[in-house]
Amino acid sequence: MEKKHLKVYNTIYDIRKELALLRSVGKTIGLVPTMGYFHEGHLSLIDVARKNCDIVVVSLFVNPTQFGPNEDLAKYPRDFERDERLAKERGADIIFYPDTREMYPDPFLTYVVTEKLSGVLCGESRPIHFRGVTTVVAKLFNIVQPDIAVFGRKDAQQAIIIKKMVADLNFPVEIIVAPIIREADGLAMSSRNTYLNSKERKQAPIIYRALQKAIEMVQRGELDAESVERSIRQQIETAPLARIEYIEIVNEKNLEPVKTIEPGTFVAVAVWFGKTRLIDNVDLIDLEW
Ligand code: PAJ
Repeated sequence: MEKKHLKVYNTIYDIRKELALLRSVGKTIGLVPTMGYFHEGHLSLIDVARKNCDIVVVSLFVNPTQFGPNEDLAKYPRDFERDERLAKERGADIIFYPDTREMYPDPFLTYVVTEKLSGVLCGESRPIHFRGVTTVVAKLFNIVQPDIAVFGRKDAQQAIIIKKMVADLNFPVEIIVAPIIREADGLAMSSRNTYLNSKERKQAPIIYRALQKAIEMVQRGELDAESVERSIRQQIETAPLARIEYIEIVNEKNLEPVKTIEPGTFVAVAVWFGKTRLIDNVDLIDLEW
């Protein structure tokens, strides 16, 4: 269902003016923060936002502060025209598409940090990553002032950190976490999947297969985290190109490793294929977030 109007704003001043008008006539606003290069995972978040509010704002900004010095900021895939078309087809109302100077006036001196949670799992190898995420998301919340904001479960740690930031800093926004969208062979969709060569792409679904096996183990009664983790490791290691960064079974509240699997524990993994780092996660015992 195509909407006739999709407005694109590049400045904070312009989008605020438009949103103030919409708010003044009683419209509720939903925000979907993204870095663009849309796939079905991003677009599913637009669907969730549409169901929960009147006006859907999609922000599209490849946020430099969440990339480390040796990461893929420069080569991160970008295609604004395509993203604009897809967002419009999916029924988004507004795209916020600022440039870096608009978001980070020079000098930029203020950061938001969610301590502890930002230093584990992905935070161990990417020490400034979540500081960049919380900072840009806090800015987006202040710019858009959404009633709801939608994030993907694909980035479970990110969603947990943002929920904690919202609770700690009293942002008046409801966070909705939407399920992971996968390719037909189980690989979690990601803009970074485009970096995989054909051999790597063929082997990458081993990640989800290993996670599914883990769920089956738990369903059969295996609740020892170490055994389940070992099984996942052995599975993933059958793919010759896979290099495991971490496999961790953690509590969703504090991201701390657990010994025994119980409701609220999930397994998170980061696996390299060549120069591409893939992440995935599943709940080990069925539970709604
Ligand atoms: P990006 O990687 O573009 O992802 C934007 C949103 O899409 C995130 O909430 C992410 O969890 C979600 N997403 C990505 N792949 C998904 C999938 N396969 N299924 C469901 N949801 C998926 O995450 C970021 O951007 C940035 O860190 C951001 C929050 C925008 C801050 O810069």
